Amino acid sequence: MAVFGLSLVSLGLLVAATPAFAAGGYGPGPRARGAAPISKSSAKYAVFAANDLGMHCFQRSYAGFMILPPANNMKVQVFRRGSEGASPVTSGISVEYAVNGNTYSAGKTDFWTYAASYGFPGLKPNVGITGNKLTGTMKYSAADKWWIATAIPVTPYDDQLVFNPLQTVRITVRSTSTGKVLATQPKVVIPVSDEQRCDYCHGPVNTAENILQAHDARSGTHLYGDLLTGVRHACSECHKDNALGAPGVAGVPSFSQAIHGFHADKMTMTSVSPSCYTCHPGAVTKCLRGRMAAAGFTCTDARCHGGMARVSDSQGPPTNREAWLQEPTCGGCHGAKYAENPGKLYRNSYLANGPEGMNGNKIMCESCHNSPHAEWASTMAVDNAEPLNLQGLATYIKTCKVCHGGETGSIHGGGGGG
Ligand code: HEC
Ligand code: HEC
Ligand code: HEC
Ligand code: HEC
Ligand code: HEC
Ligand code: HEC
Repeated sequence: MAVFGLSLVSLGLLVAATPAFAAGGYGPGPRARGAAPISKSSAKYAVFAANDLGMHCFQRSYAGFMILPPANNMKVQVFRRGSEGASPVTSGISVEYAVNGNTYSAGKTDFWTYAASYGFPGLKPNVGITGNKLTGTMKYSAADKWWIATAIPVTPYDDQLVFNPLQTVRITVRSTSTGKVLATQPKVVIPVSDEQRCDYCHGPVNTAENILQAHDARSGTHLYGDLLTGVRHACSECHKDNALGAPGVAGVPSFSQAIHGFHADKMTMTSVSPSCYTCHPGAVTKCLRGRMAAAGFTCTDARCHGGMARVSDSQGPPTNREAWLQEPTCGGCHGAKYAENPGKLYRNSYLANGPEGMNGNKIMCESCHNSPHAEWASTMAVDNAEPLNLQGLATYIKTCKVCHGGETGSIHGGGGGG
């Protein structure tokens, strides 16, 4: 039985978006800058929401083993608008989320059939590993300055069972004293896909069994024999996995190191391009869809992740990269003025070099730029629904009036320091 630290900050894999969704109601830059009134600028509150990673992935079946459970993280920041400035609202409100048109997950994934085998005994269907469901109330984290719901067990199948990796949530902000709705953000992408195609190489039938048998034969384990007796394993029982806070067993390579390193010279077995899209969603899902994808970058660019061997080798000496906790940076290409906070991932960083007075480490990078892999302006229209709603422009937040009146100037004001 696996025992997991539930202090997960982020779970999931990269990814998502099929061309079918490009024909949504939102196009990039529908109005010239300043040509039309800023939508909702008279409202008192501005609501920013973002997924942490830009795509989360889970397996088609948990019958054989578990890589990661279905688990998605959404973060929200709320600002009260004012002529003098904008104040972050950290109490006196409740921040609710509800996945649009997607009200259950059990049956869309078999996770709950096997959850007890993986160290989640008594987990009720449709409840995620940290207790969150497809609708719920977010918690405020004073340390992080955001409202958050972790491990939302959303699937890419809506209630008509149509596959769409760009599922959306509605965010509703209420006054806790009056119950009145103060503000909403009706359509924010909660990206998820089960497009993980181990079967391309491990066989279309008995995929999990074949994988376990290969592991036993090559690495001296008895995972398949255990399965026959009803004992299922999470890969993170032995392979350290920072996505789950699982320490692994000393001497066994981390999960990311093992899976990428071992498969690095196997990828010629498929023609999927980039090769990352065999196990990460995917050829259909197309995780990488943001501003940099529009400019032609792929996952394997040397300033992004690089190839499989580098994802693995970077975890050994001399760099000893920690999987999930050390990833490519915006600053690596854009320079210090546009860099993350020192030692922090993009998804955990805040604007630290804005105009005088905004230099309070209060606004998440993701509030203005969206998740990694889906940076505004995204190539997928639905990703841009939020900035379109906030500022009437389907691109990153560039209009001061979204948060407060009057000012003009440059948001990344000062020099250096990210
Ligand atoms: C591009 C082809 C390809 C894809 C995609 C692929 N594998 Fe493999 N994998 C292989 C080959 C080839 C082997 C070696 C099989 C053997 O020796 O019997 C292997 C072996 C393994 C092993 C045994 C490693 C060892 O040394 O113990 C595991 C575990 C494994 N794969 C897991 C996975 C999982 C999980 C996925 C999907 C997330 C996956 N593989 C996707 C080609 C692939
Ligand atoms: C009971 C412990 C255990 C479990 C559970 C486990 N592994 Fe392993 N795994 C190992 C050991 C031990 C090795 C061999 C490490 C070595 O050779 O240094 C290994 C090796 C591997 C390798 C080959 C690494 C390489 O570079 O040769 C892959 C890939 C792999 N495991 C994937 C998986 C996957 C996927 C799962 C879940 C289905 C999994 N493992 C579950 C213990 C485990
Ligand atoms: C053979 C299957 C497979 C392929 C191919 C693959 N990955 Fe992964 N990758 C995984 C799995 C499984 C995980 C989740 C590991 C975990 O649970 O921690 C993962 C996790 C990751 C992570 C997060 C962990 C870390 O090391 O920081 C990154 C980044 C990543 N992959 C990048 C890539 C890139 C880039 C490529 C293409 C060059 C790629 N992967 C190709 C299976 C694969
Ligand atoms: C691999 C290098 C690279 C990385 C990493 C990178 N960018 Fe970019 N980015 C570029 C390039 C090059 C352009 C200009 C593309 C063009 O002209 O079409 C760009 C354009 C942009 C733009 C558009 C600027 C404008 O005014 O139109 C934004 C916003 C942006 N990046 C944000 C980010 C964020 C946020 C991150 C980190 C999550 C990031 N970038 C990471 C290379 C990168
Ligand atoms: C309040 C909204 C806001 C926040 C928060 C914010 N940005 Fe920006 N960002 C902008 C605007 C507006 C621009 C374009 C104008 C400019 O260059 O200042 C921009 C531009 C960028 C660019 C593209 C620069 C280029 O070369 O064209 C990158 C990269 C970037 N930001 C990264 C970040 C990072 C990293 C963070 C967090 C540390 C962050 N941003 C926080 C609004 C924001
Ligand atoms: C994402 C929301 C957001 C956007 C967009 C934004 N600001 Fe701010 N601004 C804030 C926050 C939050 C504060 C800090 C308020 C506090 O906590 O004291 C602030 C404070 C300020 C202050 C100090 C005001 C005071 O009285 O203390 C100035 C000046 C300022 N911003 C300028 C700008 C300019 C210029 C722009 C457009 C280029 C801009 N802001 C866009 C959120 C925003």
